[in-house]
Amino acid sequence: MRLDKYLSIAGIGSRKDVKKIIRQKRVTVNGVISVNDDVHIDPYLDEIRVDQQILDVVLDVYIMLNKPQGVVSATSDDLHKTVLECIDVTLPPGCFPVGRLDIDTEGLLLITNDGDLSHRLLSPKRKVDKTYYLECRDTIDDKTVDILRSGVDIDDETLTLPAEVELLSEVTMNLTIKEGRYHQIKRMLAACGNQVTYLKRIKMGSLNLDDDLALGQWRFLSESEVEQLKKG
Ligand code: URA
Repeated sequence: MRLDKYLSIAGIGSRKDVKKIIRQKRVTVNGVISVNDDVHIDPYLDEIRVDQQILDVVLDVYIMLNKPQGVVSATSDDLHKTVLECIDVTLPPGCFPVGRLDIDTEGLLLITNDGDLSHRLLSPKRKVDKTYYLECRDTIDDKTVDILRSGVDIDDETLTLPAEVELLSEVTMNLTIKEGRYHQIKRMLAACGNQVTYLKRIKMGSLNLDDDLALGQWRFLSESEVEQLKKG
């Protein structure tokens, strides 16, 4: 993160104010006076001081991971690699994955320490859209599309909410659901007599999986992505 951005998030002043403070040689990074506002610092590892006072700021972290198969959506696990272990920078304490993807599901997973945002994205009341790309064993027939669009009996107390279906080929589609029940997509297709053979989440709320992220890669969300997610 840029030093001037960090200082302004830490409440030292506007971006203009902090540039001035840096020019006045009042800021040190690991004991060395910094004269560049565009120097990149690691907010979790570097010691930043203004007028000799250490800044101790817990920043909100928002990370998009393209989850690979074989990795579990948990903060710790005795058997498998966790999604947190895919992030090869020091994270502040309290980061967690927002919701779960199955071990064999790939794609978009948000990792954050922002409990409020996570709650809003996962709250059943808010009905946040989640879009999955899926491949099926058998042809997706018209009857299946109708059932998915109207609500599926997956042996829960209620039918699933109507889903949006975008057929891509005879055996592939994008499916958008508004809930997050256990193994929901796989159970929806199983209830229609079909089977999901590949599953990847490509969108959650306003957030699209970045096509440039290979499996296992991650990046911080941009400010506008965070803003959009919070608005939604
Ligand atoms: N539905 C599933 O069946 N599995 C997932 O990982 C996500 C949604």
